[in-house]
Amino acid sequence: MTRIILIGFMGCGKSTLGKKLAKRLNVPFIDSDKEIEAIQQRTIGEIFGEHGESGFREMEAEFISSLELKDDFVLATGGGTPCFNNAMAQLNKIGSTFYLERSAKELAHRLAHSKTKRPLIVGLSDEDLLTFIEEKLSVRSEFYKKASVILTREEQTPDELEKLIRLLQPHSHSPQKS
Ligand code: S3P
Repeated sequence: MTRIILIGFMGCGKSTLGKKLAKRLNVPFIDSDKEIEAIQQRTIGEIFGEHGESGFREMEAEFISSLELKDDFVLATGGGTPCFNNAMAQLNKIGSTFYLERSAKELAHRLAHSKTKRPLIVGLSDEDLLTFIEEKLSVRSEFYKKASVILTREEQTPDELEKLIRLLQPHSHSPQKS
C-alpha cells in the first residue's frame, strides 16, 4: 500500500510535486481541494462564501475520512487541512506524511500572483500577505511539524522525494512506469 500525504502552507508546491511523484510511483494523484470542489460542484471561493470557513473544514474532514478506504495514492492536502478537527493525527494514521517546509518570505513571493483563488488571502496587499503568512505559519507549523518527515527545500523535488520514499518503504510500490 502506498499512501503518501503532502502537507504544507498554501503555495508551498504540494500539488505540483504531488502530481510528479504520483506519476513516478505509478499511483493516483489526489488533490483535496479539487475533490471537494467536484463533490460540492462549487469552487473553494464559493464554498467559503456559502458555508464559511467552518463549513469548508467539515467538508475537508469528511473527505480525509473517506481516504481510509483507498489503498494507493499521493495526496496534496489543502494548506489548512492538518490544522483542524484532529486531522494531523488522522493523516498520520492513514499514511506517510511529508511537510514541505518553506519560509514565510518565500511563500509570500510564491503566492503574490495567485491570491484570487484563495479566499483567505484574496485582496491582501503584498505587505499584508507577508504578515498574514507569518502569523498563520507560527500557529500552523506546530501541526505541520507532526509530519513523519519534514522536507528541506532541497528534498522538495520529485527525484529526492522518490528516493526518500523508496528508502522508507522499499517494498510497498508498484514498479515504475517506463
Ligand atoms: C487553505 C488552503 C487552500 C484551500 C483553502 C484554504 C488554507 O489550499 O484549501 O483556500 O487554509 O491554507 P492550498 O494550500 O492548495 O492553496
